[in-house]
Amino acid sequence: MAFDGPQNRDPSLYHLVSDDGSIAVLEWRPSKDYRTKFEIPSRSLPGFWQDMRQDYSDLPLSGVAELDAIINGDAPFIGKGDDGLVFDLGDGRVVKLYSTVPYHADNQWHRTPEKAAQRGMDEFNAHQALAGVACVPDIEAFQHAGRTWLVKPKLETTETPTQEQYDAVAECLRQIHRAGWSVNDRIEVGLDANGDPFIFDLGKATPGADQRMREDDRDHLAWWPARDTVVTDRSLAMTTEDLEAKAAHSVEMARGWLDPDYPKACWPEVEEALALTKAAALRVMRERGPKASKPLRKLHDDLKRDYEAICG
Ligand SMILES: Nc1ncnc2c1ncn2[C@@H]1O[C@H](COP(=O)(O)OP(=O)(O)O)[C@@H](O)[C@H]1O
Ligand SMILES: [Mg+2]
Repeated sequence: MAFDGPQNRDPSLYHLVSDDGSIAVLEWRPSKDYRTKFEIPSRSLPGFWQDMRQDYSDLPLSGVAELDAIINGDAPFIGKGDDGLVFDLGDGRVVKLYSTVPYHADNQWHRTPEKAAQRGMDEFNAHQALAGVACVPDIEAFQHAGRTWLVKPKLETTETPTQEQYDAVAECLRQIHRAGWSVNDRIEVGLDANGDPFIFDLGKATPGADQRMREDDRDHLAWWPARDTVVTDRSLAMTTEDLEAKAAHSVEMARGWLDPDYPKACWPEVEEALALTKAAALRVMRERGPKASKPLRKLHDDLKRDYEAICG
């Protein structure tokens, strides 16, 4: 395939567009040591740039105050997962904007704008279907500029739950299962101002849950809220060699996104890599002694240091 590039749009991000304009190859070069390359449909590029920078000033205003706060840059960016970017409206609510930025930098085909918008509506539909469950908050959905924007109550996500709050979530999960649904992801819980727990990310929730999916949900809940523990537990199913390889690969991936120009694009990847390298280092230390685990500990500590320097 012939390309009419390269076009330098950015110091660390290059792209080449194919003749018919249908495919763009992005080369992501945050530092001289790390680079990654992937293909995306070229019509996805504008959204990709916006999401990388959390800058939506190119979009037309919507006339909806909650959305325009983000377009005007008035709502600080507070979180990113593998589907969405979350902004604080400052009035007890947040907006989750479905993102086109791939979670894994080595995704050959990142999600298209249409797929991203559809996934946002899937999350909204899950909230509608589960509206009777106490832990499922009421949310609003808007479509604007080809994107889905969800307005949700803001929750406190860092506090460790009490037994009572934990039990309430367990009961909600049973109700979700009785309704035929599964959360189908990490169970992400936050507390409102009254201390009532809510499950805030139903982005992968699905109807038609089977026994296996319900069990997975219960497993996730059993480990909530300690992410490190979830990763450690998952890692037990792997051989030590596979775990080491996966940890090293995850650091490569995370490094590919760790860029001072885009300090917030990297969060989920780096956190996953830190948890995995920690789990791998502990396992190797137990099995082969501290000396053997040193390279993994160094990988972990170096990544953590750079992460803190950039994302602070
Ligand atoms: N309602 C909320 N209140 C406070 N923080 C939130 C809320 N929703 C999301 N966040 C923050 O944003 C991050 C990403 O949101 P999430 O809904 O989990 O997106 P994704 O579907 O991409 O995983 C969360 O991990 C959390 O830190
Ligand atoms: Mg999430």
